[in-house]
This record gives sequence, C-alpha cells and structure tokens, in this order.
Amino acid sequence: MLLGCLSLATQIHGQEPQDKSDFQSLIDAITLLLNFEGFISIDCGMPEGYTARETYYSSDADFVTEGYTAGETYYSSDADFVNTGINSNISAEYKTGTLDPRLVSLRSFPQGNRTCYTLRPAQGKNNTYLIRASFLYGNYDGQKNPPKFDLYIGVNLWEKVAMSRMNITVTTEIMYESSTDYIHVCLLNTGAGTPFISALELKHLNGSIYKSESGCMAPIVRNYMGLPEVGVAVTDELGRSWSYYNMTISANIASTFPINSQSSNDYYLPLDIMKKGVKAVDYVGYNGSLIYVRDQGGVASNFYAYLHFCDVEQTQNDELREFNISLNYSPWLESIEPVYLKTTTVHKKILGAGSGAILLTFERTNRSTLPPILNALELYVEKELPQSPTVPEDVDAMVNISLTYGVKKNWQGDPCVPMDFSWDRVNCSYDGNNSPQVIGLNLSSSDLNGEIPPALSALKSLRYLDLSYNSLTGPVPEFLAQLPDLVILNLTNNDLTGSVPKALSEKSSLSLSLDGNPNLCQSDTCEQTKKKKKNLNTVIIVASVVLSVVLLSAIAILWSLKRRRHTVGRTLKSKNRRFTYSEVVTITNNFQKVIGKGGFGTVYLGYLEDGTEVAVKMLSRSSSQGSEQFWTEAELLTTVHHRNLASLIGYCDEGSNTALIYEYMANGNLQECLLDKNRAVLTREQRLQIAIDAAQALEYLHNGCKPPIIHRDIKTANILLTEKLQAKVADFGLSRIFPDEDGSHVSTAVVGTFGYLDPEYYITSRLTEKSDVYSFGVVLLELITGQPAIIKSEENTHIVQWVMPRIERGEISSIADPRLQGDFDSNSVWKMLETAIACVPSSPIQRLTMNQVLGELNECLEIYLASRGPLEIDEVNKSSSRIDYLCDPLDLESSMSGPQAR
Ligand SMILES: *[C@@H]1O[C@H](CO)[C@@H](O)[C@H](O)[C@H]1NC(C)=O
Ligand SMILES: *[C@@H]1O[C@H](CO)[C@@H](O)[C@H](O)[C@H]1NC(C)=O
Ligand SMILES: *[C@@H]1O[C@H](CO)[C@@H](O)[C@H](O)[C@H]1NC(C)=O
Ligand SMILES: *[C@@H]1O[C@H](CO)[C@@H](O)[C@H](O)[C@H]1NC(C)=O
Repeated sequence: MLLGCLSLATQIHGQEPQDKSDFQSLIDAITLLLNFEGFISIDCGMPEGYTARETYYSSDADFVTEGYTAGETYYSSDADFVNTGINSNISAEYKTGTLDPRLVSLRSFPQGNRTCYTLRPAQGKNNTYLIRASFLYGNYDGQKNPPKFDLYIGVNLWEKVAMSRMNITVTTEIMYESSTDYIHVCLLNTGAGTPFISALELKHLNGSIYKSESGCMAPIVRNYMGLPEVGVAVTDELGRSWSYYNMTISANIASTFPINSQSSNDYYLPLDIMKKGVKAVDYVGYNGSLIYVRDQGGVASNFYAYLHFCDVEQTQNDELREFNISLNYSPWLESIEPVYLKTTTVHKKILGAGSGAILLTFERTNRSTLPPILNALELYVEKELPQSPTVPEDVDAMVNISLTYGVKKNWQGDPCVPMDFSWDRVNCSYDGNNSPQVIGLNLSSSDLNGEIPPALSALKSLRYLDLSYNSLTGPVPEFLAQLPDLVILNLTNNDLTGSVPKALSEKSSLSLSLDGNPNLCQSDTCEQTKKKKKNLNTVIIVASVVLSVVLLSAIAILWSLKRRRHTVGRTLKSKNRRFTYSEVVTITNNFQKVIGKGGFGTVYLGYLEDGTEVAVKMLSRSSSQGSEQFWTEAELLTTVHHRNLASLIGYCDEGSNTALIYEYMANGNLQECLLDKNRAVLTREQRLQIAIDAAQALEYLHNGCKPPIIHRDIKTANILLTEKLQAKVADFGLSRIFPDEDGSHVSTAVVGTFGYLDPEYYITSRLTEKSDVYSFGVVLLELITGQPAIIKSEENTHIVQWVMPRIERGEISSIADPRLQGDFDSNSVWKMLETAIACVPSSPIQRLTMNQVLGELNECLEIYLASRGPLEIDEVNKSSSRIDYLCDPLDLESSMSGPQAR
C-alpha cells in the first residue's frame, strides 16, 4: 500500500509541469495527494518526503468493522507541495507521551492572507467526504500567544479557529459533499495572529451515508449509551470521537455473544459501542420511556439526527420490541424494531430546532412487549454554504494560467471568492444570483514569457485582458476573437509575431492595442482601434448612468428607512419619569461604570440629582421595533409594583437610545452570590428567604396581574439582592417589549439563558406560566447545590441531569452545596429539593403552580427554623407577607388591551 502511494505520487508529478521550480512558484501550499481508498492524511509541517506511520487509533479487534480496511493509516508530509509556510515543531514541554504524533509538527503561514490546501480525492466530485482539521499551537513560535484565524471549506466559512490555551488541540470536522473534483481547505488571516495547521484528513464515505441538503454538516455530539469499560471517550476508525451519555433513568444492556461483522452497516460503527446500550425502565414520571435531551443553547439551525440500534437481548417468539420516537413531544419516527445483533440506523432532519432543546422520547408501541432501547446517537448541525464559488470552468482556466505563468503570491483557492481575498490582478463579476465569473485580467508588466496560453479561451465572460509590457512571444491567437464580451485587449510592448487574425481586427466592439510588437504585422488595424475606443466610451457612459440611477434610488430608500426610525415619542402622563438621553448620559457620567451585562443590554451605575444610586439598563433594540410599542409597554411596566420586583424608576426612549432606569441593588445578582468564590457564602436560611422572595414576585406576576405577566427569563442573574439580601426579580415583562418575532430576544437573551429554558416552551412556542415555573425550579436547584445551571465539564451537564441520578441513589449529601457544612437540615433540604424537582417535569401539566411552590417553600422555612430553635419571627413574617400591591388588575387589563389591538 505504501508503494502504491509512492508511485501514485510520482504519477501526479508527471502530470504537472516538468520543471519543478515552475511548479513551486505556482500555487502556494497546494497539496495533491491521492489514495485509492479515498483517504488523504496530511501531517502538516512534517519533514520532507513521505513517511508512513502506524495509525494512532486503537487496534483493538473490536473496533475493526466490516467493509473497512483499517489498522494503519499513512500520513504524508505536505512539504513537497508547499513553498510558503514554515515548518515548526511544538515546544518540547507540550510533547507529552500520549500526544497524537501528528500534532507535534505544524506548518504556519506568516505571509499572504489566504493559504489553501487543494485536496483531490480519487472519487472526485459528487461524493461525500469526512474532512477533519487539527490545530495544536504548543507555543511553536515562542510567542506564548495562540492565534485566531478562519478556516474555510472552499469559499465558505467552516470554523473560526481559536485556542484559549497553548496546549489545547482544536479539531474540527465536517461531512462535505463536493461538487468539484478538487476541495480547497483554506486558512485566512484575520489579523489576529499567524494561521497554522497541524493535520488535515479526508475520508471518502461510501454509499449515501451522512448526506445533508446543504451539502455540509458538522457533528455536535456523538454519544454511546452502554456503560464504558475503559475511559469515556472512544475514537473509531474514521477518527470519530464518541462520548458516553449517561441516560438517567434506564438499565444497561450488553450482548453476551460477540457481535460478528455481519452486524455492522454502512456507518462504520465501532462494534464495541454497538454491543451495548440502554433500555427503558419503569419509573415514576418516565413511564417506561427513554428520554434523550440536548440543549442547543440558542443555535437556530437545522440538525440531523442519526440513531443507531442493535438489539442485544434475544427475544422469545411472542415478544416484540417496537417503539416510536417523538421529537419535542411531537411524533417523529414510528415503529422502530431493532434487529437482534444487527445494526439498524435511522436518521432524520430536525427542522430549525431553534433556540431550545432537542428532546427525544422513545416510547414503546401498544403492541410492543419489550421496552425501547438505544445504543448510540449522533447529532449534526447543518452548515449553510451561502457563497457560490466561481464557475468551475473559470477556476480551472485560472489555475491553468497560474501554472503556466507562475504568478502572484495570493493566487490560491478560489479566484473570486471571498471577495476580500480574490486574486490580485483578477476582476470578477458579483451579481448575487449567479456564480462569480472572471471578467478582467491585468497581467501588465508581470515578466511573462512564452505564448499566450490557450486556457484564456475558457474565460467566457472576460471583458478586459491586459498583457502589455511583458515578453510574450508567438502569434496572437484567434480564440481571443471568440470571447463574446471582450472589450479591451491590450497586448502592447511584447514580442508577438505573425499577423493579427482578421476576426480580431474586425471585431467592432473591441478596443485592441498592439503597438510595440516590432515583429507583428498589423496591416491597417491601427485606425480601427481608435474608432472602437469611442464605442467603448459610450458603453462606459451608459453603464455609469445606470449605476448612478441605482445608487440614487438606494440612497433614497436608505434615507426613508432612516426617517421611519425617528418616530417622535409622546410625553408620559405617568408618575414614572421619562428621561432624555442627555439626562441618561449625565446620570451615568457618560456610561462610566458597567455593573452588569444581560441579554437585553448593558447595565451602568448612575446617580440621580438627589444622589440616589440607580442602575441604568441600555437596551439593544433593533430599529424594527416601534418606539410606540416600547413606550406603551414601558408605561405598563411602571404600573406593576411589588416589594420583590426591582422597581422601575423611569425610562428613556429617544431615537435609537432606549434605557430603563431601576433602583440600584447593592448586592448584585444571585448568580454572582452563588458562584463568586470571593463572596460570603449564603446561609441555608438566606437561600430559603431568597427563594421565597423570588417566588412571591413570580406568584404576583402570574396571579396578581390580569392578564398574567409571564417573565420568560427567570434565572439567577435576574434575581437582584439589596443590601439586606432581600431578593427582587428584575427584567420582568421585557420579553413583551422585545418579542421573539424579530429575533432580538431569542438571539441574545436566550443564549444568556441557556439552561433555564423550558424545553416545552421553546419547542412548541406555547407560553404559559409553567415556563417560569421550570426556570424557577432550576434556580432552586442552584440554591440547593451551589452548582450553575449548566455544569461545565467535558460534556456539559444540565443541573437537572446532574441531580436526578443522585436523588435516585438517595445521596442528598452529595447534592447539597458543600459550602453549607454545619448549616444543614436534611428535612428542609429534602423538601426544598422535592419542590425544585416538582417544578421541572418535562410536561408542564405535571409542574407545580407558583402558588404551590410558594406554599412549599414557606413550609421548608418553617421546618428549617424549627430545627434551629428560637425563630426570628419578625424576619419570617416580613418576607412571607404579601404587601405593596399597587397593581390594579382592571387597570392593567385595559392598558394592556391597547398594545394587543395594534
Ligand atoms: C521537528 O522534529 C523532527 C523530529 O525530531 C525533526 O526531524 C525536524 O527537523 C524538526 N523540525 C523542525 C522545523 O525543527
Ligand atoms: C403510563 O403508561 C400507562 C400504560 O402503559 C398509561 O396507562 C398511563 O397513562 C401512562 N402515564 C403517563 C403519565 O403517561
Ligand atoms: C479591477 O479591480 C481593481 C481593484 O479592485 C480596480 O482598481 C480596477 O479598476 C478594476 N478594473 C476594472 C477594469 O474594472
Ligand atoms: C493594468 O494595470 C496597469 C498598472 O498596473 C494600468 O496602468 C492599466 O491601465 C491596467 N489595465 C487595465 C485594462 O485596467
């Protein structure tokens, strides 16, 4: 196999220009490697010459799958094909024994803005390939400064590569269907350090696996369900990495028989993964179903799910394992019947999974006698490829011309796209609807010699060609006359010979310049040339008139849009104050001190004239949101008062400057209090009190106002604390002002609220008070555990997922915040935990109401205080009594019908 590789490489050399120096001066950083199996594996920066290496993958027989020759992979150096770029090795301290050997060397590109590798897999176009790029900085340049740069697949962004630390390996992978025989993988310098690459792999995928509509998708997660034997991550023969998903309420299953090679399918799944899995068990609330959740944290895209099943329990004659899968509570896949010791893969697109979670429920069908199972699951996000590359004929022609002339450092990748990286001296047409084409080529004074290359004839849209001031020899080719759009042809000052083809000299639309070619017979073409120039001028004038008209109308449109934004606000009759923008500037001392950042905007510290401290929230509002609507809603919110709601002092609404001015809360927000290790630990009692305060606020919004106000963004960061640690809920009603429709809420706030989202709401868009209850349940869990909503680890874990298995095992001590040692009453903790869990069932109907939550929490506090002896009765009564209701339900209703009617 190694021999085959070598001889093939020689063959490629044979097809390229014979002169090696010619080739080297051509396209920078081109790598052409072929492998009959459709594998291209490049160890970038490896010393010159081919080197074969044993694969770093495990050679465990279990991993070897049918139809897939594995065991060794050959990595090739890119040295033979690159003449820019610098080979380096990572610094010695990062060369640990377990490091993938390919990551030791790398190639960096300090020169040029774009460097492209050209991969030409044997299977060619219209095939799907797995392409993987790896980057390990390892302080190779001694600068201790990992760079950031863009990785492109063809002309589209693949990934923004960024490394937070020197020893982090970034690996990024896509399944890509190529429409051309070549695939460009490019590194773009974005001004944040020198791009480099450590390894690049391409693998041809057989058959029709991993196909996406856009032609490109990237893995989000690959999970296997069976209990891991060694370690947690498994890397398979395709280099896919699988992590263990701990399905909370399930039982493990595993084959007692070896799974034979017959069991595999086209997906090259590791048998070690497929011989194990989980099955559903009966459990309160789960009802014999398997539930898989993946929170997408605001990624509004299409996804592809691949579910892999292999039944490892032998079924008796009268037994049947059959199940349906619902996606976010809607039927999705039906009647799945796994086969004994054989892998079945089902896959389906998940349309616009939006900002919420992907929640798959596996439920047995009525006639099924056995519970659902799952062995492995993959999720991919569809990547759009919005940019069209230059038309392939033009790309081929330009590559050919660059091979002939050996020109220009930045002639790499696509000639026209991205626009900012188009080739020097090449002009392209970009009209949005069609693929870009080369319309101009100016190689004046470029030291060209030899003949005018025939490849130019393929540039069918060429409008001007300037080859003046070179040493070109040979005849003026006739094909130049066949280029339909050519209007300028400048061949002056060369050594062209022969006579000018008649078709060319007689082409009336063409401005032809041939002077300075002493051996060229021009006959009487010179006069004609002048005449044609006039024609061209007319063309230019017409074109510029058209252009000015387009420009003028664009300006007019922009201007009218701008005017529309400046709706003049009315004055507010409310007791709440309306501030002008200049007042806001004064209050905040020109936005001097930032005290917080949230989904809706940045919060600044400010002082009113009388010295009162205030928090000024500057809102990021898109122009499409009417000022009128904001005004009405802000006025409405200023009428809502409760001691546990952060009170709105006033607001500003002037042009695009929108601000809400709140009372200042000296102790910041609850999130900081819980997570900031430098702050005093909140006691159990304080936590209970905070929970009760916040619950009161929500209960009031839900039941004290008509129609109810749903907060939609309950999270610890939105629970503010006064000097005396009284909790007040902020940002209520903002989601009304910033509705989802224009995306500003979803794309900003939801990202910040990752972990608190009621999956049901984000899936169905059916908003009820129960969505707030879910979020509040998460807040309670944070208060109990001291953990954040998303527990960061190798695989981010949602706090509910973290807590559930511990509850099952009765491990309350491992749940409670370890910082609360000694301040621990297990009865009240259990009760609080029960309350929290009763807030987060996936089905909203099963969740408590805020009223019930409040009742339970008050009981918790009583139990807690009873266990501690004498009560501080004043304190308790104060916070559990509901006061300060200025929200007149009727009033509210009438003022809210206004905005709804619009
Ligand atoms: C990187 O290390 C290899 C093996 O030690 C060595 O052969 C090679 O010359 C080194 N490359 C550079 C650029 O120092
Ligand atoms: C659980 O399943 C049983 C039948 O298997 C059904 O009668 C019952 O309604 C289910 N419960 C829930 C909460 O879905
Ligand atoms: C070609 O592009 C260059 C740079 O973008 C520009 O300056 C030049 O005017 C263009 N030439 C023509 C003929 O459009
Ligand atoms: C080509 O570029 C040269 C300078 O580099 C310029 O003088 C000439 O006008 C250009 N030709 C065309 C057709 O734009």
